[in-house]
Amino acid sequence: MSKTSIRYEYRGALAAAVGNADGLTPGEWQNLQKETAACVQKINADRPKTPWRDLPTNRKLSQIAAVLKSVKAKAGKFDDVVVMGIGGSALGLTALKTALRPPFWNLLSPRARRKQPRLWVMDNVDPEEFAAMLELVDPRRTLFNVISKSGETAETMSQFLVALDLVQKCIGKQWRRHLVITTDAAKGILRPVAEAEALESFVVPNGVGGRFSVLSPVGLFPAAMIGIDVKGLLAGAAAMDKVVTSTDFATNLAAQGAAVQIGLYRKDKPLSVMMPYSAALKDVADWYRQLWAESLGKTRPDGALVGPTPIKALGVTDQHSQVQLYREGPNNKVFTLLAVEKFACDVPLPDAPESLKGLEYLEGHSMKKLFKAEEKATAWALVLSKRPTTSLVVPRVTPHSVGEILYMLEVQTSIAGEMLGINTYNQPGVEAGKQATMALMGKTGPIPDPSSKGLPSEFKTYEQLRDTIEKSGA
Ligand code: PA5
Repeated sequence: MSKTSIRYEYRGALAAAVGNADGLTPGEWQNLQKETAACVQKINADRPKTPWRDLPTNRKLSQIAAVLKSVKAKAGKFDDVVVMGIGGSALGLTALKTALRPPFWNLLSPRARRKQPRLWVMDNVDPEEFAAMLELVDPRRTLFNVISKSGETAETMSQFLVALDLVQKCIGKQWRRHLVITTDAAKGILRPVAEAEALESFVVPNGVGGRFSVLSPVGLFPAAMIGIDVKGLLAGAAAMDKVVTSTDFATNLAAQGAAVQIGLYRKDKPLSVMMPYSAALKDVADWYRQLWAESLGKTRPDGALVGPTPIKALGVTDQHSQVQLYREGPNNKVFTLLAVEKFACDVPLPDAPESLKGLEYLEGHSMKKLFKAEEKATAWALVLSKRPTTSLVVPRVTPHSVGEILYMLEVQTSIAGEMLGINTYNQPGVEAGKQATMALMGKTGPIPDPSSKGLPSEFKTYEQLRDTIEKSGA
């Protein structure tokens, strides 16, 4: 088993760095260590109920062999892959593409992409955007991968209808070769379609929710289609699994992260900023924002409303946008910088021409040096103004290290959910909106089990729900 490479530096969140009011005091830190150890034990014991924990190590669950076989069979056949999915069915994949493919992937020539397809992750139903994407791809050379765990999300289903119509009209008999379905093994509308039409499909395993599904075929299949080393990704996550299963606080990065985040949330820091100093990792912050918000923003059984609000930022870009607020506005945030030590390349800064005075201090340096100096300066300045600041340090952005980060943050979220006393894995607040959208779009008939969908039990039919929404004046 390979070792993990990422480090978590949390000293900037302790009272010794930012003072007793804004940092965690030694006593609080000690209590958090005990509390998180108990939570780690609990989530380890609950492992049979949380199969996403086994995705890195259980090949049957991840379906890695089938994913790689399918990708191999498709080599050279497609110029574009269009993924249609939303939320947990899209954000993990986008994070993988941004982190593990060169920047501007879709703009590179086929040669520079080594003939691997471009990737379009369509996670919205903005008609202008969807229509523009359709203009850019040739259906005869495009693979459409529809991803929906529930197999019924209106946004994804509407995209699916458009893609289905398109391939049937443009391709003729072979249209089935242009569709891959990723959905639940039994539930929802998509599985019966896949079976009836004998479409290629993958399973979102039972008990693996959207936002915890990036290491299942939801992320693995389209990522492998564009040449990402998904085995390396799983190996990184598997290595991290060992680290975050341990009840030894000194080594368990996820427990340390949860202790900082929830410890400070309880000390009036309800906002949690993740700020990568790496363009490659910027969509990891976007993925994490959903993971953290949808998992932890909940009404507790005792009626308390809980949940830290995640904010994504980008270094250095947001130094010129947000950092004024971060340093001098309300001291109600905890910061996590994602720091990368080695970049794949560097850009040296040439000497300034004689006529350009005042830029001598940049001469002989490089963009990497400037980037790292900005990161260090921001971390220092935040701590100086008593803002608790931590860093997740990544030696290099590789499939292995990205697998480590994703898995660590998933387990951190799970521990945080235990600390907050909520169900990390449901999303009644999202479900209610999904049902209401279907009602407004004309769905009829009984609503099966309304309370499991975040609706008051008096809503028995979609007609009744639509009527109520329309009368509400919303
Ligand atoms: O994380 C989640 O559970 C959600 O964000 C879902 O992924 C999102 O709502 C899409 O759902 P589905 O995959 O069922 O279409």
